[in-house]
Amino acid sequence: AAEKTESTGGKIVMVTNAEFPPYEYHENDTIVGIDADIARAVAEQMGVELEIQDMAFDSLIPAIQSGKADFAAAGMTVNEDRLKNVDFTDTYAQAAQVIIVKTDSPIASPDDLTGKKIGVQTGTTGDIYADDIENAEVQRFNKGMEAVMALNQGKIDAVIIDREPAKVFVKENEGLKILDEAFTEEEYAIAVKKGNTELLEKMNAAIKELKESGELQKIVDKYITA
Ligand code: ARG
Repeated sequence: AAEKTESTGGKIVMVTNAEFPPYEYHENDTIVGIDADIARAVAEQMGVELEIQDMAFDSLIPAIQSGKADFAAAGMTVNEDRLKNVDFTDTYAQAAQVIIVKTDSPIASPDDLTGKKIGVQTGTTGDIYADDIENAEVQRFNKGMEAVMALNQGKIDAVIIDREPAKVFVKENEGLKILDEAFTEEEYAIAVKKGNTELLEKMNAAIKELKESGELQKIVDKYITA
């Protein structure tokens, strides 16, 4: 699809992993959520058509690097390691990694995760943090929801995942809770191919406009009720 994906052309291709409510998820046959709406608004400002492709989270950066897609909007946290492989736009959301446990769990803070079985979505920052916990056994899942199901079934002791999807998953599954103490604070941004300054600048201009006009907040409020 490379020939169709020029940032100045008629169409722009976004990749995401639509297993991450409220940022991206399937509603019938459509991918909806905060990132999808932001991307639609950005594409509209750029005057191009948007195509969204769904794939595994750990395939997103390779898809950008190879030029299969123009950008990834996936609740993706900016970190040093990723900055070696892609460029990030200005950030558009504050986020955090939190810990989900069963309501009767003895785990009460991040320190209690030592030596525990921890579920994460493969390739996420939750995965990276879990890996650093002393003696922890990290179980990796394709979807965050699968980690939550394993927790529900007593196969693992905790899940490390982003706060907003954690809230959705805990609401959908009885007997789970989110610990008050977050693991980390982080920020989301859109990833583009390294060196694609033209697209990066256009997207930053569009994001700035969405922030200033209040449109970004409107999108967030549509999906996250305080
Ligand atoms: N914020 C975390 C990260 O960047 C998790 C993102 C997962 N996103 C998704 N669409 N599944 O690693």
